[in-house]
Amino acid sequence: LYGTERRNSRGWNLRDMLDTGEIDAARGDFARATWSAGPVLAAAAASGGGTEHEVRNPARPDDLVGRVTEASPDDVENALAAAEAWKAPAGERAAALTRASELMEERFGELFAVLCREAGKTQADAIGELREAVDFLRYYAARGRELDAPARGVMACVSPWNFPLAIFTGQIAACLAAGNGVLAKPAEPTALTAQLAVACLHDAGVPRSALQLLPGTGKTVGAAITSDSRVSGVCFTGSTATAQGINRAMADKMAPTAPLVAETGGLNAMIVDSTALPEQAVRDILASAFQSAGQRCSALRCLYVQEDVADTVLKMLYGAMDELKLGDPWDLATDIGPVITETARDDIAAYIDAARAEGRVLKELSVPSAGTFIAPTVIKVRGLQDMDREIFGPVLHVATYKARDMQKVLAAINGSGFGLTFGIHSRIDDRVAEVTEALRVGNIYVNRNQIGAIVGSQPFGGEGMSGTGPKAGGPAYVARFTKPATRRLDP
Ligand code: SER
Repeated sequence: LYGTERRNSRGWNLRDMLDTGEIDAARGDFARATWSAGPVLAAAAASGGGTEHEVRNPARPDDLVGRVTEASPDDVENALAAAEAWKAPAGERAAALTRASELMEERFGELFAVLCREAGKTQADAIGELREAVDFLRYYAARGRELDAPARGVMACVSPWNFPLAIFTGQIAACLAAGNGVLAKPAEPTALTAQLAVACLHDAGVPRSALQLLPGTGKTVGAAITSDSRVSGVCFTGSTATAQGINRAMADKMAPTAPLVAETGGLNAMIVDSTALPEQAVRDILASAFQSAGQRCSALRCLYVQEDVADTVLKMLYGAMDELKLGDPWDLATDIGPVITETARDDIAAYIDAARAEGRVLKELSVPSAGTFIAPTVIKVRGLQDMDREIFGPVLHVATYKARDMQKVLAAINGSGFGLTFGIHSRIDDRVAEVTEALRVGNIYVNRNQIGAIVGSQPFGGEGMSGTGPKAGGPAYVARFTKPATRRLDP
């Protein structure tokens, strides 16, 4: 199992929680519960006029998880009209955010169950995500308390389904810590998780005028709130293309200087040279490429393995892949859960089919019959130059390189235009230093996996097409949502 050793500030870890019975309790109470989500507005009641849809467990389509009512155009307009900055003093805001983190811990079982059943998270991933959401709330509360500069106004937060609790909560917490109001649009597949997170924030004392929830699509809700002059800035995590569209709309419809904080995609590489320890490299390749079914923006997409050790490393990798268990995350033994939707599965499957037709599939596993699964797959490439887009699933591309061609490898990585995460396995300190110096990448991991940045100690975010900065979970993040100000010091 992945992640059993890691703990958050409270000490959560899967193994402990199995021992204390917390996991069994959550599974018993919430195995068949259903939830509902819809617009949460400050002033008017929701119109009830928005489109409705069912949410089904991506691992088990017969498992109905809940129902979502999307925000109608009237709901969006009412939310925009009622949205306000949060005028409470910084200390009071920080206290409410900290209280929200405690409520998330108290409501562990329900949040855990929804993460597994709505987002298809494995149990270890669900715990890691809850831990990250709690850490974001506490970390940004502390940063907001220190800063106490004027808020910008009302921010639009548009978040992804791959971290429906952590990134959703993190964006909102940072904007609120700085004193802004927030209009939050969760990703379409994961509005139920978002609704529970918003309930924790409201129950902790965040006023409804400072936090409204608008479930819906990017085309309707997302486009409306990221191009309205009543909004002072946008916090977005998702695809590079969507971020570029938002940037253009903001320049046209808002002030051209309104802040856009965007975390986007990556074509993340790892180098394994001939001095790497193969067992360690293989463990870290598996986690980086396949944990969370590869649905992390940080995930490893292209492995460069030095020719001299390629046979050894790849043989060991394929052997380790054979031990991975794909299946329903509700089953504790599952290592790899489903991908999020049928559309995602079909898109990734078509990509793998095309590679198979060209004889480039080196290794693949088989998939469970029901649910939206993609089996971990290894595809041969010459390098990043053969990859023109991010495939958001458990697909690892592998290239081999000769020692004398290291500069070409580095040029291909920088030449991709993306720069989110990078990993290197090498025992040569000078080589590690040279490579990390040469690359324009946000997060570099040496002799370990390249996912799962820790709030507060590993600020996370990319360069180039991978993001605008400032890095999430880092000291500069909350400040971006304030207006820089100098206050006179008392003599
Ligand atoms: N913060 C996440 C990670 O580091 C992003 O996908 O894996």
